[in-house]
Amino acid sequence: MPAGPNAYNSLWQVRTDAWSTLEESTAQLALAGVQQRPVEQLTDAVAGALDVLAPIERFWAYPGMQAFYQVRRLFATGKFDRCATLVARINRALVTDSYRGSRNWDADGEDDGYDGGARQADQARPYFEVLVVEDMTEEQERTLREEFRRWRRPDDQFNYEIVVVPSFDDAVMAVRLNFKLQACVVRRRFAHRSRHDCSPLAQFVSLGECEDLMDRSPDDRAQVLARSLARIRPELDLYLMTEIAVEDMAGRLSHHFRRIFHTREGSLELHLSILDGIAARYRAPFFSALRSYSHRPTGVFHALPISHGKSIVNSHWIRDMVDFYGLDIFLAETSATCGGLDSLLEPTGPLRDAQELAAETFGSRKTYFVTNGTSTANKIVVQALVQPGDIVLVDRNCHQSHHYGLMLAGAMVTYLDAYRLNQYSMYGAVSITEIKSQLLALRRAGKLDRVKMLLLTNCTFDGIVYDVQRVMQECLAIKPDLIFLWDEAWFAFARFHPVYRPRTAMRAARTLAETLRQPEFRTGHNAQLEEIGPVDAAGDDVLLSRRLLPDPARARVRVYSTQSTHKTLTSLRQGSMIHVWDQDFSQKVEETFHEAYMTHTSTSPNYQILASLDLGRRQAALEGFELVQKQIENAMRLRDAVDRHPLLSRYMRCLTTADLIPAYYRPSGIDQPLRSGLPKMMAAWGADEFVLDPSRVTIYIGQTGIEGDAFKRRHLMDRYGVQINKTSRNTVLFMTTIGTTRSSVAYLIEVLVTMARELEARLADMSLNERAAHERAVLRLTSPSAPLPDFSGFHLSFTDGRGLPTREGDVRRAFYLSYNDSYCEYLTPDEVEQRVEAGEQVVSTTYVTPYPPGFPVLVPGQVFSPQILAFMRSLDTPEVHGYRPDLGYRVYTDKALEISATTRPAPPPEPAGPEPAGPEPAGPEPAALKAAAPDAG
Ligand SMILES: Cc1ncc(COP(=O)(O)O)c(C=O)c1O
Repeated sequence: MPAGPNAYNSLWQVRTDAWSTLEESTAQLALAGVQQRPVEQLTDAVAGALDVLAPIERFWAYPGMQAFYQVRRLFATGKFDRCATLVARINRALVTDSYRGSRNWDADGEDDGYDGGARQADQARPYFEVLVVEDMTEEQERTLREEFRRWRRPDDQFNYEIVVVPSFDDAVMAVRLNFKLQACVVRRRFAHRSRHDCSPLAQFVSLGECEDLMDRSPDDRAQVLARSLARIRPELDLYLMTEIAVEDMAGRLSHHFRRIFHTREGSLELHLSILDGIAARYRAPFFSALRSYSHRPTGVFHALPISHGKSIVNSHWIRDMVDFYGLDIFLAETSATCGGLDSLLEPTGPLRDAQELAAETFGSRKTYFVTNGTSTANKIVVQALVQPGDIVLVDRNCHQSHHYGLMLAGAMVTYLDAYRLNQYSMYGAVSITEIKSQLLALRRAGKLDRVKMLLLTNCTFDGIVYDVQRVMQECLAIKPDLIFLWDEAWFAFARFHPVYRPRTAMRAARTLAETLRQPEFRTGHNAQLEEIGPVDAAGDDVLLSRRLLPDPARARVRVYSTQSTHKTLTSLRQGSMIHVWDQDFSQKVEETFHEAYMTHTSTSPNYQILASLDLGRRQAALEGFELVQKQIENAMRLRDAVDRHPLLSRYMRCLTTADLIPAYYRPSGIDQPLRSGLPKMMAAWGADEFVLDPSRVTIYIGQTGIEGDAFKRRHLMDRYGVQINKTSRNTVLFMTTIGTTRSSVAYLIEVLVTMARELEARLADMSLNERAAHERAVLRLTSPSAPLPDFSGFHLSFTDGRGLPTREGDVRRAFYLSYNDSYCEYLTPDEVEQRVEAGEQVVSTTYVTPYPPGFPVLVPGQVFSPQILAFMRSLDTPEVHGYRPDLGYRVYTDKALEISATTRPAPPPEPAGPEPAGPEPAGPEPAALKAAAPDAG
């Protein structure tokens, strides 16, 4: 297929382009005879476009293969006029989507001119396509299509057409390529392999290897196909049509099928079920309830004067509020929780239904809506699960909400270090070796029983994605009841792409639970037992050097994820969700979860946010696949436009997987997975410890000599209105979302090119001195900065002071001690440095967070290290939270540290497990109060 490397995995664009080329070329060809133009070039262009379309048109309902063959025939027989007319009609319908509402798709005919009202109604109805998998003749196909059309009624909520494919392979390709498909009817007779040469599609769709299905019974084949389709598109409604005893079949049917039908009973029931299936996903119960409520006249004797716009519409001074927002938003403002509405804190009606639908869409066992962003969602989950004194392992670069949430919960926090990318002043993600090492250190110290939770950000701000299942699997081998909180603030969309989905928390949780039940897994675990004995007794070296399997009899799958729906899907700002996949939720958590939810949730949650979450869910369930596909394509367009532009590439470059993930973590060895085609991307995403989310584009700007923050504020934002969020010293991050359009990508490229041109012009005009200054700036930005600091350690007085020193510290105590001013003093950076050089321990009272990079370099109770000081000195960021330029760092006095040590809470009761090894710590004398972590500065 001459799609070229730009196609990535989005065939729809290749198809769209081919139809446009066809329209243009056939139109010219039709004119060529009249104008005596050379026709060879044009016929080549038409033939080329037809070749592109030939292997793929069968996957779409419109215009259908009959129409396509007709185009080919007209072209082959030299009837260029008629060919051009037909192609123009088809392409117009494709471009304007008007075929969705048309009732006459016959190849030759113009639309039969059915009345305008009916056409309008048809066009307003959402349209989708249904895949039918059966090997049938053209005649049978036509009959079936007409049969389905016959059942249409004017008051149907939706409109659909069918696409028929004859084989397993074709079905897999169709659901991967045609995002209009929403349902699939599997019939008994279908082949395994496609009759067509599928190799041209290899870059778009991976068929995978599987045994020859023709040896299996038709029903088995149907089940295997259903599993394969559900893996690609779990949201599709699958139906089975069979001729054998449906009653027997129904009992053995895989859960993937929504319903089973007997072939001879005709298609009406099936037709109604198809519509019903889509209606179930289309439902937005809370949005609908709010909309109906907003149209009811009410007398408000309650709070909220703004409800029904009452305090605004009669106002003389704020009428522009209605002009700007429109009246509906105020009609929908209410504080009622009855009359068809519901209470977020105790949902029993439409909000409960909306959350249940969200759970289905996002693959969780339970989903909760949150109206104050993932900042709040994170605090709810932590409070629900963590008791004071529990140990929580967390990436030190996590979002501030975790730092505050863990502090409030009274957790003993073990900060994990992510790998460093000093060249770009960024952190990557936390390696499995680091996580296991910390768990094993806690095991050595006899504290494993107190470890409650592992908390990681997936994907990271910069787009590094974990192998979620592997992390959980290996950790559960060491600590079978560990709970996982995956902060997916930036990853809600990932559920809707088959390559991303396995690396999401909810899917990985489900797969892990299924895997643990499989006999092959038990066999693997038995083999591990024979080789290394029980994990509890095996040495650290052994456990660190291999991939561990948990004991399936002991491991519990307890997984939570928090998602800022508003960041990557459709929702008003602050709309977030908590997804739960916890086998012990109802026995152990439900009540504390409820309390935590009450702690952090407003009793006046914003209904507009809730309604938008409901609609955002509907959209994701019906078009998430399409939108995410297009988002990735736009991201790749942006990457290509930067890297292939002769001027831009002189000053900027998109960082690749190889730049952001060291080779050590990428056993696949693939440097640029998506650019290498879908099969390679799937290989990398299947094998590598970390992968890069291609939708997040980090551009390296060191060669411009402009620092990241200035690039963002002074250039992109102030001059061109381009908003971005994250920068580092020499990079800027551009995020694409489902809202990114081709035009916005084009605008950004235009802006970047303008900036590069201006830079060229400035360079040309520079005096020698100016030039030298510019070169110094470039050198500074392109040389490695001071190494990013690792976590230095808590002061011993903020640890539990028991057993072997491990990293965890009591952030809550360290935080609240500073409420007493007399325990704190300010030291300038020089004073801190002098004390550190003199071997003293200087301890921060607070979080110190420079923006960028935006992670706390110090947390309460943490000791300053020479690396931290060097790093802080190297920063030229204007904004450092927790540091006062006029006073310096706020640190604890020696007296405060002494008091902290003597008022340390009694250690929790000794665990039943092995005795902690190593000496007891020295008493609380100040001299002995050294930082607890082995690598303290
Ligand atoms: C990793 C991470 N978690 C949580 C949050 C907070 O999300 P929200 O803005 O929805 O409160 C953010 C915000 O940027 C984030 O980056």
